[in-house]
Amino acid sequence: MEKEIRVLGIAGSPRRGGNTDLLLAEVMRGAASKGAKVKTIVLSELNIAPCQHCDVCLKKGRCKVDDDMQMVYKELAAADRIVLASPIHFMSVTAQAKAMIDRCQALWARKYVLKIPPLGGGRQRKGLFISVGGRGVANLFEPALATIKALFNTLDIAYGGDLLFARARVDGRGDILKHPDALHQAFLAGQKLVEETPPQ
Ligand SMILES: Cc1cc2nc3c(=O)[nH]c(=O)nc-3n(C[C@H](O)[C@H](O)[C@H](O)COP(=O)(O)O)c2cc1C
Repeated sequence: MEKEIRVLGIAGSPRRGGNTDLLLAEVMRGAASKGAKVKTIVLSELNIAPCQHCDVCLKKGRCKVDDDMQMVYKELAAADRIVLASPIHFMSVTAQAKAMIDRCQALWARKYVLKIPPLGGGRQRKGLFISVGGRGVANLFEPALATIKALFNTLDIAYGGDLLFARARVDGRGDILKHPDALHQAFLAGQKLVEETPPQ
């Protein structure tokens, strides 16, 4: 029997049912249609403190802050595919997403200081980034992309692409529904994410 692919969706928008939530749901539906086991966590419903830069992780390889990030570390480790959705807030990811990302400093410490696999071995992980923005300015997604690529690289998650709606001016809640094929693109991206093997 083929190994079941586990897909973790991470909703980074504080607006429930908004544009990135809608896209993320379609990606997860596409993944599920290919037999993946899917789970979505909503960062705005979790209690995740910002990184305190206490450096405990440099010695212990784990974060001392006992909040919902401890659950997120476990979910990341259990996933083969990670789909991170965040709209653009002030040219970057949301505060909710950035708090989670900064807490991955503990995983950075595992990899670069303690020389152990950041999320544990045994899985070839691949990640997808979903984003929208309301302004349609040039280079809208570049700062967020730099952050997401740094995160995926640190966590040994191969970059599996992104769904970005540049110049589309996706601003009001549900504006993405007016896009001719955004949701379809998201569904297909979810299928592809599960079907393709990540690079070695
Ligand atoms: C605090 C805040 C900051 C924002 N900053 C930007 C920005 O820098 N550039 C942009 O294009 N849109 C910006 N937006 C608009 C959102 O990206 C847009 O409304 C998006 O559709 C929200 O996605 P969601 O429905 O998934 O939350 C901002 C919105 C908020 C609330």
